[in-house]
Amino acid sequence: MNVKYFNSYESMSYFAASKLIRRIREIKQPVLGLATGSTPLGLYQELVSQHNKGVVSFENVITFNLDEYVGLGDSHAKSYKTYMRQHLIDKVDFNPKSFHIPNGQAIDLEKECNRYESLLLEKGPIDVQVLGLGHNGHIGFNEPGTPFKTKTHVVELDITTREANSRYFSSVSEVPKRSITMGIKSILRSDEILLLVSGEGKASALDKLLSHEISKEFPASALHRHDAVTVLVDQSSL
Ligand code: PGA
Repeated sequence: MNVKYFNSYESMSYFAASKLIRRIREIKQPVLGLATGSTPLGLYQELVSQHNKGVVSFENVITFNLDEYVGLGDSHAKSYKTYMRQHLIDKVDFNPKSFHIPNGQAIDLEKECNRYESLLLEKGPIDVQVLGLGHNGHIGFNEPGTPFKTKTHVVELDITTREANSRYFSSVSEVPKRSITMGIKSILRSDEILLLVSGEGKASALDKLLSHEISKEFPASALHRHDAVTVLVDQSSL
């Protein structure tokens, strides 16, 4: 695990964007794994800005998002599908058919998880997977206690996760209780992983990660089982 420290959020985001752009330009049909939340917003802003300058095209890029809330979808303002459209997909030259995210409104959630996992296997492996770090060590929505062998599945969100994400809703009771998430096994299949760490109160989660203790009670520790992980730390927000 390679760890890089940055003295600002902007410099971390710029570094992450440059790394993705390099891979997009190297590979004929790049497959990116994307995350939501506050952490990658600067990265997406930088990708849009570089696209507007003519530096990068997303025409041939395929993307897979990590997760989606159960019950929220296309038209919901707080769905992750809407987030991705607002911050990246609709702002660049993506082929909308190449943007994949679990369908949180599927009637049969088990079937949807299997569909998503099969699609990942068919189009993958993911060349670069972007991750954020949850305060409780979650990656995607894989909460503490998730076995490392899990594939895409439905998860009951921790109350701490719902409280952390309540800032996007009018109250914690509005935050969905479940989500569909790529599993830890699905994430670890990626060729390369970029874990971005930024935001108030992430220092203890980062310390735990860097202690190198591997435990399913701290899902991000599974990343020690992958040999191409770079952790980008915005030191100023810790
Ligand atoms: P954040 O969330 O980027 O909003 O801090 C990270 C996460 O929960 O994975």
